[in-house]
Amino acid sequence: MDEPHAPRALPLPEGFLPPDCAFSGQDWTALARQWFPVARVDAVAAKPRQVSLLGLRLAIYRLPDGICIGRDLCPHRGLPLSAGRIEGDELVCAYHGLRFGADGQCRKVPEKLAPKGTECFSLTMFPAVERHGLAWTCLIPGAEPAIPEVLPAMEAVAQDDGAAPSIERLALNEYRRLFDAM
Ligand code: FES
Repeated sequence: MDEPHAPRALPLPEGFLPPDCAFSGQDWTALARQWFPVARVDAVAAKPRQVSLLGLRLAIYRLPDGICIGRDLCPHRGLPLSAGRIEGDELVCAYHGLRFGADGQCRKVPEKLAPKGTECFSLTMFPAVERHGLAWTCLIPGAEPAIPEVLPAMEAVAQDDGAAPSIERLALNEYRRLFDAM
């Protein structure tokens, strides 16, 4: 498996459950340990955009070294980072201009936010892996399970009508597979 693009700067807290989550805490935690596709690789551009996984809003964007996936929540005021922009190898928050590197660490704090330093602000980042033309992530990463080399669901979808599988259909098949195994 390819190495994830960036390590998490901050893990999700123990027992974390997204607000208004439709899953029980136990189900959410089990699902969050799986890898899911969240976007087509060719649809990920420098302009950040929001995607949702298991009720959690994520910002996905492309830096010069690869795709990054982080929580869509600025650590300053909790506003969405998907409204931000990329400058060089940094994500810049649209609201007060905090700058973050690929690892989620804050690199620069604008003068208006002083005296707070860069150590005060870190993003929750998730691993980003490109596989099967899709960008994959895992909300509670560990050693296992890994992304399968060939997805049974992908084969099934491909055999279905010969068309390229949509990300929605792949995700739906993966959810079904996981729930069947529970
Ligand atoms: S909300 Fe992001 S810098 Fe203030």
